Amino acid sequence: MESVSNTDRRDFLKTSAVAATSAAVSQFTLSSAVYASGNDTVKVGLVGCGGRGTGAASQALSTEGNVKLTAVGDAFENQAKGSINNLKNNLGEKGDRVDVKDDMVFVGFDAYQKVIDSGVDLVILATPPGFRPIHFEYAVRAGKNIFMEKPVAVDAPGVRQVLEANKIAKEKKLKVGVGLQRHHQAGYLDTISRLKDGVIGDILALRVYWNSGGVWDPRLPRDKAKSEMEYQMRNWYYYNWLCGDHICEQHIHNLDVGNWVKGGYPVRANGMGGRQVRVDKKYGQIYDHHYVEYEFADGSMMYSQCRHQPNCWNSVSEHAHGAKGTCDISAYRIAVNGEDKWRSDAKGKDPYQQEHDDLFHAIRTGADYNEADNGAMSTMTAILGRMCTYSGKVITMEDALASNLSLMPKEFSWEADPPVLPNEDGYYPIAIPGVTKVL
Ligand SMILES: NC(=O)c1ccc[n+]([C@@H]2O[C@H](COP(=O)([O-])OP(=O)(O)OC[C@H]3O[C@@H](n4cnc5c(N)ncnc54)[C@H](O)[C@@H]3O)[C@@H](O)[C@H]2O)c1
Repeated sequence: MESVSNTDRRDFLKTSAVAATSAAVSQFTLSSAVYASGNDTVKVGLVGCGGRGTGAASQALSTEGNVKLTAVGDAFENQAKGSINNLKNNLGEKGDRVDVKDDMVFVGFDAYQKVIDSGVDLVILATPPGFRPIHFEYAVRAGKNIFMEKPVAVDAPGVRQVLEANKIAKEKKLKVGVGLQRHHQAGYLDTISRLKDGVIGDILALRVYWNSGGVWDPRLPRDKAKSEMEYQMRNWYYYNWLCGDHICEQHIHNLDVGNWVKGGYPVRANGMGGRQVRVDKKYGQIYDHHYVEYEFADGSMMYSQCRHQPNCWNSVSEHAHGAKGTCDISAYRIAVNGEDKWRSDAKGKDPYQQEHDDLFHAIRTGADYNEADNGAMSTMTAILGRMCTYSGKVITMEDALASNLSLMPKEFSWEADPPVLPNEDGYYPIAIPGVTKVL
């Protein structure tokens, strides 16, 4: 069985070489002359000023060379202003890199356009993922460099929108980073390059997990929300048009590692899931567990679990089973014939910082840098899994990716109805395997 084609192997080596080189080069002070005709200040805009957006902005402002945050946008004013304060307080002596004038704080559903049109060189897109394709396409058309968080969509039309917009991004040679930070984590790079070298032989199976007790509880009680739209936006995790379910929002990281090891994407999947523990109406419409079997073109498998149930076995990890041995990828360990053979001692930077160092290095030097196609296809891998667990059917990647079923609202305003509404008792429709249609 051929697990990774030669082309895939070459592409992988090219990608990891780029990552390794840029990681090494980022240790040096870069010549400002190479960036933007002598103007070496990279002006950054932030769209989506929550936990991760604020973190990503902090990492962008901690890269080498002159960099400033000049504009922020959020659906909610408290979020936008809170993020600016947090950044100033947490960046210490680099706090003066937060240079956002009052008229550069934008609020509402169109805040992203105003940030992107405000004269920034790079925009960070860190809203809930449902909005990402719209924001990404707008930023690409405006010719901006982009850091966007994963997942990059919640449905197949959104994934296709990102793939299409990215064709333009590549033509324009825009630099695009995607927040799948394991690709910038030294131990993962080291371990996966050994797997690519064939140390455990052809990869026959992968096991990937994001099993945990769950995430934040809904933040805004229903009686405090001014509209159903505000209620869902504040509590976005529990609504698929915003979040894509936790298989998409979190487990994408582990599925993406499996795809990376295989050098491709699954061609088919089946799965099962449901909600048994997190059943209160305040938890919207998402499942609390998914189990999916993904099949790659060469017949090898990726077995995937993600669970949000307290007091159970927890694991966030990836494992590969090869013809000659096994690998605990996330622990950077390889065993052959049941005996520990190798453990990476690669010591890298915090991968959240490294991914920004690498992106900014590319911006300043003009090197090719675009992670969006992989981000889109790993997002699609998660969406395919959700389609299988919701429907109970076997679904091919080809059919899933061609689906025209959009989860997004037709209109974005505080008065508009979101695409999923509660019944008179406040409960939302939950997918039922065997009944729910996903294609
Ligand atoms: N790479 C990682 O390890 C990692 C970790 C955490 C989160 N994330 C990703 O980052 C994204 C944000 O997650 P978070 O934890 O920061 O969530 P969050 O709720 O803390 O922040 C989201 C922010 O986006 C704002 N927002 C919502 N809709 C908006 C819109 N249309 N326009 C402008 N602002 C809007 C919200 O008001 C909020 O301030 C998600 O895609 C998540 O999956 C990635």
